[in-house]
Amino acid sequence: MASLQNKTMVLSLLLSLFSLFSREISAEFQRFEQNIRGDGTLRFLVVGDWGRNGGFNQSEVAFQMGRIGEELDIDFVVSTGDNFYDDGLKGDDDPKFVNSFTNIYTAMSLQKPWFSVLGNHDYRGNALAQLSPVLRKVDGRWLCLRSFIVNAEIAELFFVDTTPFVRYYFLNPEDHVYDWRNVIPTKRYTSTVLKDLESALKTSSAKWKIVVGHHAIRSAGHHGDTHELVQSLLPILRANDVDFYMNGHDHCLEQISDIESPIQFLTSGAGSKAWRGDVKDLNGNGLKFFYDGQGFMSVRLTQNEAEIRFYDVLGRVIHRWDMSKMFRADI
Ligand SMILES: *[C@@H]1O[C@H](CO)[C@@H](O)[C@H](O)[C@H]1NC(C)=O
Repeated sequence: MASLQNKTMVLSLLLSLFSLFSREISAEFQRFEQNIRGDGTLRFLVVGDWGRNGGFNQSEVAFQMGRIGEELDIDFVVSTGDNFYDDGLKGDDDPKFVNSFTNIYTAMSLQKPWFSVLGNHDYRGNALAQLSPVLRKVDGRWLCLRSFIVNAEIAELFFVDTTPFVRYYFLNPEDHVYDWRNVIPTKRYTSTVLKDLESALKTSSAKWKIVVGHHAIRSAGHHGDTHELVQSLLPILRANDVDFYMNGHDHCLEQISDIESPIQFLTSGAGSKAWRGDVKDLNGNGLKFFYDGQGFMSVRLTQNEAEIRFYDVLGRVIHRWDMSKMFRADI
């Protein structure tokens, strides 16, 4: 027993030494442990595409998130990116951070960790600013990294930095200036992200595996599918029993069921400006729900049950998805 413990200790020491030296080439899948309440359930809210100084109904959505957050007694909030419009933050002292985050999501129930990824609009400013620990001193809830893992006992959440995967941003540099510091050469960066994600998924023993990124894999909204992610990310999710892929980017709420696996694609990108007015016809290809207006999503997980809810700007439930699964250990 003692020797097994020693072996484990030596192994983890070696692993941390290795990760220290390989940091340069490795994507930063830092791990965070999130304890959950005694009854073994995990509850959180998901919102995306929000930071507009309260405008375009951001404050109204925030108010309803506070109400539902209290009702569910949430453990944390997930932000699917495009945190600050139009061009991310200028620096870690940009007042936009306080005006679009701290002063908007003021409810008691939302004073929990906010696990956030970067969206393409965040890359248009100083992308490193949002990753800076200085922001955590301004508002202790904020935790934004490029790619990282939150282990919440029954569920593991894998956050993936999707913007560098999208060729369009590199092919049309005249559109906008993007802050690609630390992600070029992109080919090497994205292949490292995929490799690290794959090995993390393979070794995960969590009951629920959730992957979060800014860009949709599948969407019926304005931007539609992200082909680069369909090609490179989706096969990894399918091969590793991922339950949910959650994203923003399209300013809508939607659920699409994968046709080749149990994966549910859940878009929650309606934190402020919405009503784009164009919906693609998916020919019934898995589309379960689409709403063009503002709102957010809640997730409640137990060992065997998942309850997904979508809410509009008035906090009304506009879609429900309940599922249960039998785990091998239970049979
Ligand atoms: C905000 O929500 C209200 C209530 O549903 C709606 O009437 C209004 O059009 C929305 N405003 C915007 C900018 O979307």
